[in-house]
Amino acid sequence: MASVPTVASIGLCLFLLVAGVAGEDDFNFGPERKTHLHFFFHDILAGPNATAVVIAQGPTWNTTAGRFGQIVMMDNPLTEGPSLSSKLIGRAQGLYATASQEELGLLMTLNYYFTEGVYNGSTLAILGRNNILSERREMSVVGGTGYFRLAQGFAVGKTSSMNFTSGDAVVEYDVYVVHGDR
Ligand SMILES: *[C@@H]1O[C@H](CO)[C@@H](O)[C@H](O)[C@H]1NC(C)=O
Ligand SMILES: *[C@@H]1O[C@H](CO)[C@@H](O)[C@H](O)[C@H]1NC(C)=O
Ligand SMILES: *[C@@H]1O[C@H](CO)[C@@H](O)[C@H](O)[C@H]1NC(C)=O
Ligand SMILES: *[C@@H]1O[C@H](CO)[C@@H](O)[C@H](O)[C@H]1NC(C)=O
Repeated sequence: MASVPTVASIGLCLFLLVAGVAGEDDFNFGPERKTHLHFFFHDILAGPNATAVVIAQGPTWNTTAGRFGQIVMMDNPLTEGPSLSSKLIGRAQGLYATASQEELGLLMTLNYYFTEGVYNGSTLAILGRNNILSERREMSVVGGTGYFRLAQGFAVGKTSSMNFTSGDAVVEYDVYVVHGDR
């Protein structure tokens, strides 16, 4: 004889169903996964399709070597190849600010928001110092969501091309992360 489900067991089933759909209870802390991402970041300041805009500027921005005190908001495309017309894989959304009085040293605080393949909808959070005139810059990956839950790692940026008139730049990024196996 089949037992009649009680109100309590129906409640438990609903709870398990909700938890299963949300997926918060079924991820594992290990084994860890390692992911290496490679893409190009397009910082477009000029023209009708600018993706980075100056939102604040202090009085010292044009009197210090570091252009100290300027804040830019970006929604910059991330593409597979160096050309803007190559496949779009996500966007870099956030802020960078000239945080050094001595040289062009940026504070980068942004999310990479991925829109392709298994990474679709996932993010990585970046917080770092970006000395844009050096050949190689390293920034921290401080967290992640979705595919990249519990992420930690670092991003290495190298300028791929730069237009010194407009300030537009293409930066090649290699991002190395260790994250949970969800
Ligand atoms: C700006 O974007 C529009 C729409 O994608 C495109 O048609 C146009 O060519 C772009 N302009 C420039 C200067 O890139
Ligand atoms: C700095 O910029 C301000 C406005 O943003 C301008 O009034 C001033 O002349 C500039 N100073 C120099 C040294 O370029
Ligand atoms: C990414 O996810 C969004 C929302 O679920 C969906 O609309 C879109 O088609 C997906 N894109 C790819 C390339 O899978
Ligand atoms: C560099 O930027 C200037 C100003 O926006 C533009 O006129 C010029 O065509 C750009 N050069 C290249 C090589 O894209």
